Amino acid sequence: MPTLVVVGTQWGDEGKGKITDMLAERADIIARYQGGNNAGHTVVVEDETYKLHLIPSGILYSDKKSVIGNGVVIDPKVLLKEISYLEDEGIDVSNLCISKKAHLIMPYHCKLDQVEESRKGNDKIGTTGRGIGPVYMDKIARCGVRVEDLFNPEYFKAKVGEVVEFKNKILKEVYGAETFSAEEIIADYLEYAEKIKPFVVNTAQLVNQGIDNQDAVLFEGAQGTLLDIDHGTYPYVTSSNPISGGVCSGVGVGPTKIDQILGVVKAYTTRVGGGPFVTELTGEKGKYLQDKGGEFGTTTGRPRRCGWLDTVILNYSARVNGLTELAITKIDVLDELEEIKVCTAYEYEGETITEFPTDSDKLAKCEPVYETFPGWQEDTTGVREYDDLPTNAKKYLTAISELSGVDIGVVSVGPKRTQTMLVKDFLQ
Ligand code: GDP
Ligand code: IMO
Ligand code: MG
Repeated sequence: MPTLVVVGTQWGDEGKGKITDMLAERADIIARYQGGNNAGHTVVVEDETYKLHLIPSGILYSDKKSVIGNGVVIDPKVLLKEISYLEDEGIDVSNLCISKKAHLIMPYHCKLDQVEESRKGNDKIGTTGRGIGPVYMDKIARCGVRVEDLFNPEYFKAKVGEVVEFKNKILKEVYGAETFSAEEIIADYLEYAEKIKPFVVNTAQLVNQGIDNQDAVLFEGAQGTLLDIDHGTYPYVTSSNPISGGVCSGVGVGPTKIDQILGVVKAYTTRVGGGPFVTELTGEKGKYLQDKGGEFGTTTGRPRRCGWLDTVILNYSARVNGLTELAITKIDVLDELEEIKVCTAYEYEGETITEFPTDSDKLAKCEPVYETFPGWQEDTTGVREYDDLPTNAKKYLTAISELSGVDIGVVSVGPKRTQTMLVKDFLQ
């Protein structure tokens, strides 16, 4: 049975949750490999809308294993809230599996995220304020706290005591911010530990055994390629590796075990937070896409910046992820437009370039070179077969595939599971 990665090709919010949920029906295991509750994945099942931040979108199928891999960072308070929310909705979460090695977001991480953003002022990243940067900093600096530490209380108490003392110094002396009580954090977290314990397993072993047993495994990315710490628009990025390669370190699976890499592409582009955005539409057109596409953040409620599709980005994404297919979402949002633009190159200091510059300064100076496509001005939300799409919609989709050099695997024309066309087979 094959394995498949669902990865965001732009700046996140491409519709990964919807695509993961839809393909999860064919999977045995669904695993998240990076990020934390900075993510917001919306899944619509019939009349119910589920908003997930930390738990993989596969959780809505009670017979599948939903894995939170070691590369994910976990705020246990948020995790427990999400578990309760799902249980209240009648979802069985007993198949949730949490890595022992995942790092824990502590209250001081959230605080440090917020005070550091304030310190940066106009240069702020526009983070979600969920402690993501600081927790990954501690992971790399080797002073992080992991899930398994919760089950070694003496070690946990000593570790948190030592780290809090140091973090308090930074909070007080560098930022002039309020400090934390180690005792309170320890008491809260040991209480969370009891509730989390039934879900904690060796997830790398579980996933690899699944692969050996011919299970179908789906890896769900959070964020997107341009938010990748290494390959994104640094420093306006998140602190993990959303690209497909992140699966290997974030779940503990070797690269030879990955078969298909499905890049999720929104039919236009959005971005939340700061940083350059070459095809951004700040006027009426941008507002139109924002309203029609419902482009408001699932996690923070912030309006998403909107613009035309950019195939310079898509080409770059195809390469760094090794995309095998594209899942193109939100085609229906373009239904009423008379014409649609696609950026195929940038003008930079009088030169036409097609290689995506990851240097944010250079990117901010790039101007888009557009190709214009006629709109189809027909409602696509009820279309269920690719061949039944309006001719101009098919032309637009074919152009995206040709310009990116990647075949189309999925087309989505609405938020519901049924509003999807499978052009290729997955996880078969
Ligand atoms: P993710 O973070 O990549 O999972 O994406 P989000 O869930 O943050 O944002 C995508 C939004 O678009 C959600 O509200 C989805 O329900 C919605 N959505 C997904 N696919 C489609 C589609 O094809 N058409 C429309 N109109 N909405 C979609
Ligand atoms: P999903 O999984 C869109 C953005 C933030 C900010 C930057 C860094 O729903 O696609 P962070 O809190 O991670 O340190 O913020 O990354 N960001 C996202 N933008 N979708 C997301 O997740 C995002 N997660 C983080 O807005 O610009
Ligand atoms: Mg999202």
